[in-house]
Amino acid sequence: MARSSTTPQSTKTGQDGKPQMTRAKLIDLLNEDLAREYQAIIAYVVYSQVLKGAAYMKIASELELHAKQELEHALIIAKQIDYLGGTPTVDPKPVKMSDDTKELLQFDLDNEIQTIRNYRERVTQCEQLGEFAIAELLRKLLVEEQDHEIDLATALGIDPPDPSAR
Ligand SMILES: [Fe+2]
Ligand SMILES: [Fe+2]
Repeated sequence: MARSSTTPQSTKTGQDGKPQMTRAKLIDLLNEDLAREYQAIIAYVVYSQVLKGAAYMKIASELELHAKQELEHALIIAKQIDYLGGTPTVDPKPVKMSDDTKELLQFDLDNEIQTIRNYRERVTQCEQLGEFAIAELLRKLLVEEQDHEIDLATALGIDPPDPSAR
């Protein structure tokens, strides 16, 4: 009997029913992550300088530290993309701007929440491919992204949101 060839490559699923992870797919996803790290660098560099109001001076200096950590993250992700045989992207995700300090902090918080969601998924995806060292590096990034999330939520006077609640 002839085998059916109606199932396209892109919808292949693994034993768990989830789309099968491939090296090429992981490179694409890590490039998305890299574009988000660039976005975070730009946002933290700019926002740390334009925050207005005495109440926000502490968070402004924390944002400067975040900027440096996001640069480290970008270097780590770019290195892993190169290791996997891909080419690191040169394009950041767009960065929003506002005159309102609280809005700026909210943009950062929203981005951190999305980044945490992505890295949580990425750890599992790396493990599916047996890329345990990359998974380990991403776990360390996740710890720092969660610290960023807490700093921002604290500055906004809210509880850190649960990134798993969509
Ligand atoms: Fe980061
Ligand atoms: Fe971050």
